[in-house]
Amino acid sequence: MGKDVIIACDFASAEATFAFLDKFSGKKPFVKIGMELYYAEGPQIVREIKKRGHKIFLDLKLHDIPNTVKKAMAVLSRLDVDICNLHAAGTTAMMQAALEGLTREDGSRPLLIAVTQLTSTDQQAMEKDLLIHEPIDRVVMHYAKTAAEAGLDGVVCSPLEAQKVHETCGKNFLTVTPGIRFADGDKGDQKRVMTPADAKAIGSDYIVVGRPITAAADPVAAYERCVREFVD
Ligand code: C5P
Repeated sequence: MGKDVIIACDFASAEATFAFLDKFSGKKPFVKIGMELYYAEGPQIVREIKKRGHKIFLDLKLHDIPNTVKKAMAVLSRLDVDICNLHAAGTTAMMQAALEGLTREDGSRPLLIAVTQLTSTDQQAMEKDLLIHEPIDRVVMHYAKTAAEAGLDGVVCSPLEAQKVHETCGKNFLTVTPGIRFADGDKGDQKRVMTPADAKAIGSDYIVVGRPITAAADPVAAYERCVREFVD
């Protein structure tokens, strides 16, 4: 898989999701399905979007004991998604168990990427709530390195961290980066943002774009603008 734009389909129902995807007529953008849509509609939403020919990043961020994550990943692997993820905080043992669960009998498997520290966690919360006293940048890079050593394919990170992750974990270690906004767009609740063109320049492998596409007056034109800036 090469560089691509992944649309965050943060909708509450299958109906709203298909109304959105129908606007794309012949095109089949890569889509991200998160917890809200998955918990509302169950695995059938994944099967239906897959049947329509889209690639899928299933963003469920698993974090549990290794055996439970292994079994859950085996189920996700049968759903034939392209990328799934977990929390690196679940430890190396959990990440390795996840990879085992995800690997099919023929040796194939979806890509597996790790969430490092959520961008909603800042230094203060990390110290107070998690008792982690290292600088947050160091924690993020440590989690990325742990994920790479466990055999994972990449991390979800801020585009501002993508370059450093590649330097630390190698250029083939994938960086999947949300927090993307057009230069002339609204930032919404995202604080540390980057344009698709800058994310390309800094070496992001995939950008995850939600509201700049889903809330645009013309979502297809906004998607095409992302592809022009990031991929072409
Ligand atoms: O609408 P927006 O472009 O901000 O959506 C970004 C998507 O990426 C959302 O689905 C959000 O949950 C997800 N995400 C994020 N920051 C992270 C991890 C995931 O914005 N650190």
